[in-house]
Amino acid sequence: MHDTHTSHGHSPVSDSDSVENPEGFAFITLRAGGTLVAIEAAKGTRPFIAYCGPDLPGSAAEELALLSTRQHAPGGAAQHLRGSLMNELGTGSSAPSGFVGHRSGKMWATDLRVASSARDGECSLILTCEDAHAGVRTVHKFELDEVTGVLTTGTRVENLQTSPLSLEWCASLTLPFDDRFERILGFSGRWSSEFQIEPIDKFSGSYVRENKAGRTSHDCFPGLFAGAAHTSENSGFAAGFHLAWSGNSKLRVDRLPDGRAILQMGEMLFPAEIDLAQGEAYTTPDMVACWSKDGFSGVSQKLHRYLEGNVFDKRIEARPRKVHYNTWEAVYFDHSEARLLDLAEKAAEVGAERFVLDDGWFGGRRNDQTGLGDWWVSPDVYPDGLHTLVNRVRELGMEFGIWFEPEMVNPDSDLFRKHPDWVLHADGVEPIESRHQLTLDLTRQEVFDYLYEKIDAVVSEYGVDYIKWDMNRDTQYPGSNGRGAMHRQTHAVYALIAKLRAAHPQLEIESCSSGGARADYGVLRHTDRIWTSDNNDARHRHQIMRGASHFFPLSVLGNHIGPRHCHITHRIFSMEFRAASAIFGHMGMELDLAEETPEDRAVLARAIALHKTYRDLIHGGDFYRLEAADYLNAVGCVAQDKSEALFSCAQLDLQPTTLPARLRFVGLDSAKRYRVKLVWPDRDKSVSSPSIIDAADLLESGTRFTGTALMEHGMQFPLVMPDTCLIYHLQAEG
Ligand code: GLA
Repeated sequence: MHDTHTSHGHSPVSDSDSVENPEGFAFITLRAGGTLVAIEAAKGTRPFIAYCGPDLPGSAAEELALLSTRQHAPGGAAQHLRGSLMNELGTGSSAPSGFVGHRSGKMWATDLRVASSARDGECSLILTCEDAHAGVRTVHKFELDEVTGVLTTGTRVENLQTSPLSLEWCASLTLPFDDRFERILGFSGRWSSEFQIEPIDKFSGSYVRENKAGRTSHDCFPGLFAGAAHTSENSGFAAGFHLAWSGNSKLRVDRLPDGRAILQMGEMLFPAEIDLAQGEAYTTPDMVACWSKDGFSGVSQKLHRYLEGNVFDKRIEARPRKVHYNTWEAVYFDHSEARLLDLAEKAAEVGAERFVLDDGWFGGRRNDQTGLGDWWVSPDVYPDGLHTLVNRVRELGMEFGIWFEPEMVNPDSDLFRKHPDWVLHADGVEPIESRHQLTLDLTRQEVFDYLYEKIDAVVSEYGVDYIKWDMNRDTQYPGSNGRGAMHRQTHAVYALIAKLRAAHPQLEIESCSSGGARADYGVLRHTDRIWTSDNNDARHRHQIMRGASHFFPLSVLGNHIGPRHCHITHRIFSMEFRAASAIFGHMGMELDLAEETPEDRAVLARAIALHKTYRDLIHGGDFYRLEAADYLNAVGCVAQDKSEALFSCAQLDLQPTTLPARLRFVGLDSAKRYRVKLVWPDRDKSVSSPSIIDAADLLESGTRFTGTALMEHGMQFPLVMPDTCLIYHLQAEG
C-alpha cells in the first residue's frame, strides 16, 4: 500500500517496531507520562475510546469502559450508539462523521470495525479497522510521549477495491471531549495581530473553524485549549489540542444532544483532492493532544517539552539561540551596500549575533511588485555579489542569514515570463493576485527542482547560516492538473526544506508567513524558529506572545525590538520598554540603528546583554503565564530544579484603582527562600517613593522571601506608568 498523495511526505503510521498484542486486544490501556488512554477494541467491533486524559493510576481500560456504560434514551435509536474512532456515516451516529468517503456518490455508509492491533509497550498502538463491504481500511496511530504524556494520533486510509475512493474528509481522529470542559479558548487573529485568544463558554451544537488559506493562517490557528469552569492559568483541569499541519485545516468541537462532546481535527480537503485508486492511501496530519491538572500553563509546559523532545532538531537545540539583527524595517527595499555595512557595525556593537538580510536583495526586487522567483543576487544593487557584506558580517562575529519566499512568484519576474504555467490555479478561473504575487505549483517536479537549485546556489556560495523562509499570501485556487493540490503542495514544501537541510546540515530555517501565518508543529519538524508577527509594537507584542506561548516555547518565538515610532500602529515607545518586551522570546531587533540615539543604543546593548545572561533560563526553564489584572502581562521562566526564576511583568494600561495589585509568582519551591531583585530597568521607575523597590532594595542587593510568601501572599507591584516592563530575578538561597 503506497501513499501516492504524499509525494514527498513520510507516513506517520509505522508498524515496523510494533508487536502483536498477545491478549487479543479487547481492551487496550496506554499509559505514559501521566496520561492514560483506554480503548475498547475487540475484533469485529467498533473501536471505542472509553477515556483519554490525565492518568487514573491503577485503572485499566476494562473498568473505564464499564464505567462508561450508557443506555438508549426513549424516543431515540433502538440501541445506544457509543461513538467510535471516526463516527463514520455507516455507524448511524448522530455525531458529525470523522470520515466521509464514497465511490462516485455510492458506498458512503462506511462502518469500520477492528481488524487487528499492534502495540509497542504502553506508549504506542496501531489499530487497524476495516469495512470489507465499503472496501476501506483505516490504520490509526496512538503514541504517548513518555516524558510529557502528550498524545499524537493520525490515521491512514487505504482503498481496498478497484473503483476510486473519493475522500471528502478524514479527521486525524475523533476524541472524546471531557464533559468537565466548560470553556474553549480558540485562537484567532489577522496579519499583525496573531494568536488572539477567544474564550468561548459552553454551547450547544458546534464550534467549527475551517481554514482554506493554503497556509496555517493568521485567523484560524489549528488548535484550541479547553478548561473546566474554574480552570485558571496554573490550576485546574485543562487540555490543549493542535493539528500539526501547514495547509488547509478544519477543527470542530460538537456538543451532542445526548450530553457528550467530541473533538475532531484534520485537513480540509478540496473536492476530489484525494481520490484513491486501489492500493493507494492517504495519511492525515498528526493531531496532538495534551491534558494537565495544572491549568493552561501546565498544558503549555508539556507541549513545549514535547516539541523539544520530539519535534525540534537536536543540533539546533544544543546551541544558544542567537540574537538577530533583521534589516526589514530599517531599509525595506532600499538596499545599499554602504548602508547595510553601517547597520552591521552598529548591530554588532549592541550585541547582535546574526545579521539577517531581508527582502530586496535579489532579481529586480526594488518593491513588492517585482522579482519574486528570480533568486539570484541583484546585479543592480550588488554588482560584486554579497561577498563584501557577508565577509564583514562574519568579521564582526555574526552569522549571516537571508530571506527567501520560495513558493511565490510575481507576474513581473523573469521566472513568470518564462513559465507562466508554473502557478497553482483552477481551470477556467483567473487567479487573483495578492501582494502582487501568485503561488508556484511545487507539486511539479520542475518547479521543485528550480527552487532547490536556486536556493542551494545562494546558500552554497555564501555559506548562508540561516534562511528566513517566507510565504506572503493565502492561496485561493490551490489547483494543479485540474485537481485540488494543497495537500501535495504542503508536503512538497516540507520536502524542499528537508532536502536543503540535508544538503546543508548547519543551516537554520525560520518559518515566516506575513508574520505568524505558518506557525504549527508540522512546519516545526523542518524549521527552527517562527516569526511570530510583523507587529513590533511593544505593547501589542505582549499579547501576541502570550497567545502564541500556549503552543510554542519562547526559544522558537521570534520577538524583535522595533523602531521608536512603530511602523504598524504608529505608537511611540521608549527603548527601555521596547527592549524589555523582546527579552522573553528568541530575541532580535528590526530597526534602523542609525536613527536611534547613542543613549538608546546603549540601553539596547544592556537589554541584549541581560537576555544573554538569562538566555538558558528563558529558553530552558518551565514557562508560566501568571494570573494578573487585565492591565498587566506577567510571565515567567522557572529553572527545572526551581533554584532560579525570571519573571517579566509589563504594565500595559492604567490600573482602575489608585494603586496596582500584588503580583503572585508561581512555580517556585514553597520551602525555599528566594532573593528577589529587579534586573530591568536598572533605575527606579516608581511614580512615587518610597515604594516596594526601595523597601525591599530591589535594585541593589534585593531581599529574601519564602517561595510560599511570594506565591500565596504575592509582592506589591510598584506604581509605574503604562508601558513599563519590570523584570524580576529570583535566586534560591540557603
Ligand atoms: C513579510 C514578513 C516580513 C518581511 C516581509 C518582506 O511580511 O513577515 O517580516 O520579511 O515579508 O517582504
